Amino acid sequence: MLTYKDAQKFYDAFGEKQDRQFYEESAIIDLITHGNFAEAKNIVEFGCGTGNLASRLLNDVLPADCYYTGVDISPTMVELCREKLRRFPDRAKCLQSKGQPILNITSQSADRFISTYVLDLLSGEDITILLNEAYRVLMPGGYLCLAGLTHGASATSRLVVLVWRGIYRIRPSLVGGCRPLKITGYLKTDQWHILRDKVIESYAVPSEVLIARKV
Ligand SMILES: C[S@@+](CC[C@H](N)C(=O)[O-])C[C@H]1O[C@@H](n2cnc3c(N)ncnc32)[C@H](O)[C@@H]1O
Repeated sequence: MLTYKDAQKFYDAFGEKQDRQFYEESAIIDLITHGNFAEAKNIVEFGCGTGNLASRLLNDVLPADCYYTGVDISPTMVELCREKLRRFPDRAKCLQSKGQPILNITSQSADRFISTYVLDLLSGEDITILLNEAYRVLMPGGYLCLAGLTHGASATSRLVVLVWRGIYRIRPSLVGGCRPLKITGYLKTDQWHILRDKVIESYAVPSEVLIARKV
């Protein structure tokens, strides 16, 4: 597991390379397709990286009155995100966080909470804290929209996951600190109604797309 300091250092150095993670694309498209973003008014993204998803949403999907807030631990990512969202000065902001996934965002103010390929690098304890924060920040009926590495579904993807886990065990930074996990295992059933839970394989790398409505 990467410490907060390690994660910040890694992603500061990784920067724009994050946008070349080709295996993420199919899951991101699925998330955009099923997240009902055309009706969103206020989006929060945790671990926004370079702002790639935010920029796609703001340019192509979101209504003109929808506001976006991104949060990331890496100053480099925050700068890249701000640069990408410069066209939307009144609708988008990106904030740097310190590590613990506690958000300086008003309770019940958002209708979408997004996080892609971030939970898989947090500790189990931080995943629980983050999901509680998502629950707090979302208004009733708001959507939790998550994607991340998961367990393999086919023989090939199971093999890829086996190798991935082996590398992670030796040195987590070689795989960006990410390890495959099942997000639904962390959801409290009295808080969330699952609308979509799908495993999507791309280049034999399995990703879980999870969309849940706050009860
Ligand atoms: C694998 S990248 C994913 C970036 C982006 N969501 C995407 O899908 O392209 C993980 C991102 O999470 C950020 N991150 C890692 N640990 C974090 C933490 N504790 N708090 C906030 N951001 C974090 C990293 O800086 C990085 O931008």
